[in-house]
Amino acid sequence: MALTRLAHKLVRDHFTGRPKELAVDGTCGNGHDTEFLARLEFDQIIGFDIQDGAILNTQKRIDNAKLNNVTLIKTGHQNLAQHIDRNIDCAMFNFGYLPKADKSITTIAQTSILALNSVLGNLSDTGLISMICYPGHTEGTVETRSVQQWLHQLNTSSYCITKFESNHPNSTTPILYQVSKKQ
Ligand SMILES: C[S@@+](CC[C@H](N)C(=O)[O-])C[C@H]1O[C@@H](n2cnc3c(N)ncnc32)[C@H](O)[C@@H]1O
Repeated sequence: MALTRLAHKLVRDHFTGRPKELAVDGTCGNGHDTEFLARLEFDQIIGFDIQDGAILNTQKRIDNAKLNNVTLIKTGHQNLAQHIDRNIDCAMFNFGYLPKADKSITTIAQTSILALNSVLGNLSDTGLISMICYPGHTEGTVETRSVQQWLHQLNTSSYCITKFESNHPNSTTPILYQVSKKQ
């Protein structure tokens, strides 16, 4: 199963019977995750991306699906705290660059960690953060390492951290991480 689909399945399972007020898509891209969160019936989804094309594509997808619980903001996810000052139930980050687009426009370690810290600071008690990292390209290698260090410093008596990766011997396949608070 593709990691993006696995991420959706795990998010869906996690939120069965749990509050779904606010979800964040930290990297809208082509809008697949935003649409997924909107269909999961969070009350509100706030999506971030730095590219005009990504915001446009995501808005089109949301409009076509006649979903009306989504707000898109064209800014970096590192600015999340300027737009959200309440509890976040779910945050999804599919890091990296848009497939078939300009590969130089990619998420980078420093701003990704700022965004993760912002989300963590507002994460609701029943919340979940989902991240897909791509160590197969130069910036992604650095970013993956930073995300791993960020996860490593989380207190394991407070947070449940899961990791999914292919069993393929190639160590540059994508990795899915999820973080939730221990109840
Ligand atoms: C792998 S794509 C996301 C795919 C998307 N979640 C989907 O479902 O189609 C990564 C996206 O991150 C965006 N991005 C790069 N730096 C960013 C930043 N600092 N803040 C928000 N988005 C960023 C890129 O523009 C790109 O659209």
